[in-house]
Amino acid sequence: MRYYNKMSAFLYKFTNMKKQIVSIAIGVVATLAVGVAKAQFKTAIDSTEIKIEQLLKRMTLAEKIGQMNQYNGFWEVTGPVPKDGDAKVKYDHLRKGLVGAVLNVRGVENVRKLQAIAVNETRLKIPLLFGYDVIHGHKTIFPIPLAESCSWDLEAIEKASRVAAIEASALGINWTFAPMVDICRDPRWGRIMEGAGEDPFLGTQIGLARVKGFQGNDLAAPNTIAACAKHFAGYGFSEAGRDYNTVDLSHVTLHNIILPPFKALAKAGVATFMNAFNVVDGIPATGNAYLQRDILKQKWNYKGMVVSDWGSIGEMVSHGFAADLKEAAHLAVNAGSDMDMEAAAYVTYLEALVKEGKVKEATINDAVRRILRLKFRLGLFDDPYRYCNEQREKTLIYHPDHIAAALDVATKSMVLLKNENQLLPLSPSQKNILVIGALAADKSSPLGSWRIGSDDDIAVSVLEGLSKHTNNITYVKGAEVALGKSDFLHEVKINTTDTSEFAAAVEAAKKAEVVIMVLGEQGFQTGEARSTSSLQLPGVQQQLLEAVRRVNKNIVLVLMNGRPLAITWAHEHIPAILEAWQPGIQSGNAIANILFGKSNPSGRLTISFPRTEGQIPVYYNQYSTGRPDAKDVVFWSHYADIPNTPLYPFGYGLTYTSFKYSNYRVAKVNDKVQVQVTITNAGQRDGEEVVQLYIRDKFASIVRPVKELKGFKKLAIAAGKSVEVAFELTKTDLSFYNTKGDLVFEPGAFDIMVGSNAAEVTTQTIVF
Ligand code: NOJ
Repeated sequence: MRYYNKMSAFLYKFTNMKKQIVSIAIGVVATLAVGVAKAQFKTAIDSTEIKIEQLLKRMTLAEKIGQMNQYNGFWEVTGPVPKDGDAKVKYDHLRKGLVGAVLNVRGVENVRKLQAIAVNETRLKIPLLFGYDVIHGHKTIFPIPLAESCSWDLEAIEKASRVAAIEASALGINWTFAPMVDICRDPRWGRIMEGAGEDPFLGTQIGLARVKGFQGNDLAAPNTIAACAKHFAGYGFSEAGRDYNTVDLSHVTLHNIILPPFKALAKAGVATFMNAFNVVDGIPATGNAYLQRDILKQKWNYKGMVVSDWGSIGEMVSHGFAADLKEAAHLAVNAGSDMDMEAAAYVTYLEALVKEGKVKEATINDAVRRILRLKFRLGLFDDPYRYCNEQREKTLIYHPDHIAAALDVATKSMVLLKNENQLLPLSPSQKNILVIGALAADKSSPLGSWRIGSDDDIAVSVLEGLSKHTNNITYVKGAEVALGKSDFLHEVKINTTDTSEFAAAVEAAKKAEVVIMVLGEQGFQTGEARSTSSLQLPGVQQQLLEAVRRVNKNIVLVLMNGRPLAITWAHEHIPAILEAWQPGIQSGNAIANILFGKSNPSGRLTISFPRTEGQIPVYYNQYSTGRPDAKDVVFWSHYADIPNTPLYPFGYGLTYTSFKYSNYRVAKVNDKVQVQVTITNAGQRDGEEVVQLYIRDKFASIVRPVKELKGFKKLAIAAGKSVEVAFELTKTDLSFYNTKGDLVFEPGAFDIMVGSNAAEVTTQTIVF
């Protein structure tokens, strides 16, 4: 809050404020375990630490450095493809104990083979870690993470990660490179699909749920795997949304928007961190000591291990930060990167760097301790084949419970964006339904992008899903989304010209009572390296939509995409729009259940939808400008051609019922804000509302966002019933990080807002 004193700004900032701002100690979450449990826990930790020290003493410098080396395993690649002949070198290194972890090896048989080399042929028999990108399911593919986040359902999200861990661990994997907790405000960035949207509070809760799902309560259990908080830090803020591009941020944004999910995951015991490809404040994240040493390992006291991103140590040379790979190794290890993924920088140069005195052996020891600690926690020293069990591999993959969970999460992830005149849900007796769009028959695209572990073409298509509800369907493709079939490694080729099937679609539309158009992106148009400058429907799909609309206005648009698209025309002309995202293996069933009203949509956007690309970045937790309001002269902050607001705001989503907010009460009780509101389901159907709580710190020593999400509750409310909802805010909830990264509370006035999305709230002001 601003203090209205007469001191100069300088004195105010550095003298007066110091006295009045209450510093909130960061990271003082005490371990609550008491009595016997605490003693046992401590003994287990102590004995692990003793074992680590004993092992460390027996290791040569080369063997220690070997533990810090991670190689890609050659079955799949998820980055620039390694050179021929590398395999021979890698096997040779493995046998010499110069490999601590591999990635992209899966299947019990393959994992066993490599683990056997590590534990039988190397001098110290230290087992390997097997890392893999288990991002939204492993074999049973769940909705893409951005979609899942729109469920606002932490239990369902945790369950999705739990299932993924069960399946991945059955195939020998013990470490996933997930969750990605990068906050992102730019839909051009292809990896927006991999995160939880634009908000740090929600992103934190979702990140925690995912870690819990992957790691469970006991990392040593054979069906839990180590998680990884990535990409530390700022990767979601790449300029112009172009992947791997420069990031240039303020400290205020770094500390208040980007770091909070990472901090929470570190405190919650996420087993590993991954750094990032981008630069932060001119220094590549991989070589960034401020992030990795000062903040993560010192301030947050993180005891887990930091892995580099794929080749990111080597990429510091291209960034112009290191002269060569040797200097890159030097800078990365000193900055706190413990393991080198696929750059072979550590294994090649660290020994020499230690001998030259540029890297201390203590630094190496610290990294190796962290890596060994993880191997102990996973139980790999007790049984290196703990995650290799042919029986589990056979029985758990695609288990019916997993498929049921995938259907549940897919249904909860979809967001109803528009439903004029209650066109939806369709009646089961609906006649003459026409389905248009290549995606309606596609069994691959709904699986999304990050599904390297899955089998292809396993999604239930929209047509298959719809056919379980009705026989009254005609299908005309109308247009392709993209030319040919793309895959994880190759660019999607967009077909911009072929309109030859338009006529058939238009003719059929003339006869249809309702047209379901399934349009959007091909499965690999989002994801890593899939940035795009346009957010329009790819190819000729927009033209197709307009052509059909000219002859039939009764259109239900089902969007299947991995990022927000700019669908202003559709919003203005199409009566019903369902954002289905890429919903995974149960895609068609979930979509059909919603279209026919078997399920009531309950998803809410976790990312603002721009009206046009030119509006990016558009996000709800923006600052106010000095000229926020419309004036009769032109001089205020606005666009000449469109409103400032997004097409659909953060938190937005419709259902087949409606909710009313009443009886809103806010009170300050002791040092807390008590918030209460009554929510009534005023419609005819049972449904779910996501009640959202926002605050605005009205005046502060640094400007604060116009809204910040601080709480939410997803509630099932029967038709006609009311529910009392209560929230409590503490001083910590009302605090913010200053430019030094310290959490501070400044007393004064706060707006407390409750509502169904960021743009529709009721406000009361409270003074502290
Ligand atoms: C690069 C990606 O940025 C990272 O997220 C992923 O885990 C690694 N490749 C390994 O596939």
